[in-house]
Amino acid sequence: MDSFRIHGGARLKGTIEISGSKNSALPILAATLMSDEKCVLHGVPRLSDIDSMNRLLGDLGCHVFRHDPNEEGLLIGPALNGPLEIEVRDATQCEAKYDIVKTMRASICVLGPLLAKRGKAIVSIPGGCAIGDRPVDLHVRGLQKLGAEFHYEKGNIVGEVRGRLKGCRMYLGGAQGPTVLGTINVMCAATLAEGETVLVGAACEPEVIDCAELLIKMGAKIKGHGTPEVRIEGVDSLHGAEHRVIPDRIECGTFMLAAAITNGELQLKHCNIDHLIAVTDRLDEVGVHTSRENGTIHVSSNRRLNPVEMTTQPYPGFPTDLQAQLMALLCLADGISVITERIFPDRFLHVGELNRMGAKVRKEGATAIIQGVKELQGATVMASDLRASAALVLAALVAKGTTQIDRVYHIDRGYEKIEQKLASVGAQIERVAEAKMAA
Ligand code: EPZ
Repeated sequence: MDSFRIHGGARLKGTIEISGSKNSALPILAATLMSDEKCVLHGVPRLSDIDSMNRLLGDLGCHVFRHDPNEEGLLIGPALNGPLEIEVRDATQCEAKYDIVKTMRASICVLGPLLAKRGKAIVSIPGGCAIGDRPVDLHVRGLQKLGAEFHYEKGNIVGEVRGRLKGCRMYLGGAQGPTVLGTINVMCAATLAEGETVLVGAACEPEVIDCAELLIKMGAKIKGHGTPEVRIEGVDSLHGAEHRVIPDRIECGTFMLAAAITNGELQLKHCNIDHLIAVTDRLDEVGVHTSRENGTIHVSSNRRLNPVEMTTQPYPGFPTDLQAQLMALLCLADGISVITERIFPDRFLHVGELNRMGAKVRKEGATAIIQGVKELQGATVMASDLRASAALVLAALVAKGTTQIDRVYHIDRGYEKIEQKLASVGAQIERVAEAKMAA
């Protein structure tokens, strides 16, 4: 139950190395369940969600080992993260228990790989989520179309396959559009199905492409990944592979906004600006300039921030995972901005906390109207979910006085050593352990 204490006002200046992608590493780790040999993954960040997935793989009979090149404790940033080795030692387990699933919804990613490889899966139904309604019906429906049978028992999804999964042509879209982890779950299962599967309405996120790239290295036959129509020709088995996960585009976008909100200048290394085209487009409109030079993104901003309108969309549109952070910036824009959240219509828990810091944000259904203010005030605020917490950190970096953000365990789920990275470019931020807070 640590907290962050942030004294606002410092202009961020310097270079930050972007870590590997959490949202790519999680489904990729689950996909290694289908390999008959060891897999080696590079660039996997050190995060509590990754630890949860590694524990889950352990429960499912995998030996998970991380090389630690930092025995001497000299390295910082992504270089610190030695490769992760995953090897299936016991393929009889097939249950993903509630105690892990309740801490991390992405546990659902083992459903497809277990069914395809072990013919059975018992996965606790992911419960409620701070960002809103998050059913997994599209995952189940897609796997049912491949021939899996499901029933629900004691809060679990129980899936079984008689014989082998069978490829088919299916539509995978939902009311809010494509599903990222649903596409990956069904794509994984289809790699070991009989015949061809065609996923229509597939998600196009870079994380889908990255998982497909790993599966292809494991011997899978996949085409069209990154487009709305993915074709998978089933194979009999998959072998080991070595793969480097892509940089974290959401972490990168968060630091871009940190540079903008502090009117700072940052160089962001080890990231792919092409994964953020809708973000740089919006930021340009706000008055935040990004340029790329030799793989490094340079971010700087005008003193005056323009108000904008933005609607979150599936990739390549503006990502919902940067909605809260953009809102924090627009709280200081010169006029009225409007944000519409199309992916998770209830994803606005940060609004109340930003208003506690002197922002003027009004929510109307899935839309937020942001009246720009001259300054924000330091206050004690509560982190509620991963990205909402990142927005509070950004607001605190520019607020007058000191802000205390409680429950930062939410941030540790998706940002690797964020306080060290921010402090290295001038932020006045410290992590305060609960005990010290109480004293
Ligand atoms: C992934 O979640 C990310 N998580 C989320 O990031 C991200 O917000 C989301 O994609 C959208 O970009 C990981 O990669 C671990 P979806 P996912 O299925 O795949 C509805 C973060 O902050 N839907 O693409 O679970 C759903 O309710 C996290 O890092 C169904 O209706 O999201 C939503 O409205 C938060 N039925 C929409 O589709 C289903 O079976 C898109 O969700 C599945 C989804």
